[in-house]
Amino acid sequence: MSEFAAELVGVSKRFGPVLANDGIDLAVARGEVHAVVGENGAGKSTLMSILYGLHRPDAGHILRSGTQIRLRSPADAIRHGLGMVHQRFRLFPGLTVADNIVIGAEPVTGARLDRAAAHRSVTDLSDRYGLRVDPAALVGTLPVGVRQRVEILRALYRHAEVLILDEPTAVLTPGEADRLFEVLRTVAAGGVAILLVTHKLTEVLAAGDRVTVLRQGRVTGRFTTADTTADDLVHAMVGRSLPTPVPRRATPDAAPALDVRDLTVRDADGVTRLSSVSFSVRPGEIVGLAGVAGSGQRELIDTITGLRDGGDRVLLDGTPIHPGRDPRVAYVPEDRHARGTAPQMSLAENLLMGEQRTLATRSGLPRAAVRERARDLVARFSISAASVDVPISALSGGNAQKAVLARELSRGSRVIVAEEPTQGVDVAVRSRVHALLIEARDQGAAVLVQSSELAELRELADRVLVLFEGRLVAEFGGDATEAQLGQAMTGVSA
Ligand SMILES: Nc1ncnc2c1ncn2[C@@H]1O[C@H](COP(=O)(O)OP(=O)(O)OP(=O)(O)O)[C@@H](O)[C@H]1O
Ligand SMILES: [Mg+2]
Repeated sequence: MSEFAAELVGVSKRFGPVLANDGIDLAVARGEVHAVVGENGAGKSTLMSILYGLHRPDAGHILRSGTQIRLRSPADAIRHGLGMVHQRFRLFPGLTVADNIVIGAEPVTGARLDRAAAHRSVTDLSDRYGLRVDPAALVGTLPVGVRQRVEILRALYRHAEVLILDEPTAVLTPGEADRLFEVLRTVAAGGVAILLVTHKLTEVLAAGDRVTVLRQGRVTGRFTTADTTADDLVHAMVGRSLPTPVPRRATPDAAPALDVRDLTVRDADGVTRLSSVSFSVRPGEIVGLAGVAGSGQRELIDTITGLRDGGDRVLLDGTPIHPGRDPRVAYVPEDRHARGTAPQMSLAENLLMGEQRTLATRSGLPRAAVRERARDLVARFSISAASVDVPISALSGGNAQKAVLARELSRGSRVIVAEEPTQGVDVAVRSRVHALLIEARDQGAAVLVQSSELAELRELADRVLVLFEGRLVAEFGGDATEAQLGQAMTGVSA
């Protein structure tokens, strides 16, 4: 028997003009965590989708334990012991954890669903792998980290011997991500082969055994993590090293551009979400915002960006912000699909949203000018797309993010609010996004960056504010350690 649980051999896949996979060989061994990295659009998700039967390769084939298999659908893949944890979970929120795990593969006694047996096997599996879940809980009530465990259990329940995870930590807090890696190690130790797609190179080096690097559809590097550095990976990914981070600044002396004064926010049920929050951001500084999910960041950012009424407590250059988008505030939202873009509209139209007025003439929007302006932004922000006329939903995640940034940063706004600005983007884009935010700062913008990635705040922010249970509990200089930030985030006072 082959030592490899699964092998992709000479796999190619074309989407119209794009050669997404170009003769890729990749083999994953039983018991290893094999990371797959590469720039946005390098072909990682395409390759994983081929291995899970979601796409048919144009050329090449798949071996399972040394034997060639043909996959026409995910159902075929599951039959062959392949499992996948999707980034957008495919669970039923109205069903219990146990039902979600066994659905479609239920134990039956006679002709009836054996619910007790289902609960038992879920409990067995969760004990064996340290994946703690309550089998009776409704999935809709669970935090993302737990839902992800349910997805993993679902695959293990179907006897997956190869487990594919496409950017599993993008939606997790740092603590949840650490727990996930412990689980993956346990699952791998049980003989399962794990394929892990991620943009976070520290995760790759900490949790992976081997790494395959893709670039423009081809393999450009194979490494054993034990003798590899992040810089080696970056080189294989983008063909060069990345610039070193720009040093941070002392707080400038100017009057605040953004001033939040004693802001309290209650939700529709009267629950206090923010209490007496006060801080300011001066032109020419980047202030980071840290906090575990649900600490009030959502409400704070919604108020600053005018999505929620701040009742005169949020001032821009001394005057209150009123509900509704204010052109003086640029906003890069976390959920770029729902909030940041109109997926059906073209890249050009998306790049122009909110700026129609500056280009409109009496006879409407001149198409040529729209496309001209879009092409200019595409070049300046190095957005890779077949043309400015494709729907923005056809862009890879990182390129869609660059498009949102291009639109928001090119407005010349006084205040820039960026939420998780580099979630799901590759290291090269990340470095570019950081450079763009720093450039905006240096041109005098007041920048507020919320991120669940503490390393990002440390690289980018001149000061970091920490929210806990709706209160500002700490403020650090940009040189705070992750341990200090982490403690403040969990309410441990310094
Ligand atoms: N269904 C599709 N139709 C057309 N083009 C596609 C399709 N899926 C992927 N592509 C294109 O194939 C290329 C590879 O995309 P893929 O999603 O595999 O990249 P990726 O490495 O997963 O990127 P990211 O890091 O942004 O998730 C990209 O240029 C993408 O636009
Ligand atoms: Mg992808």
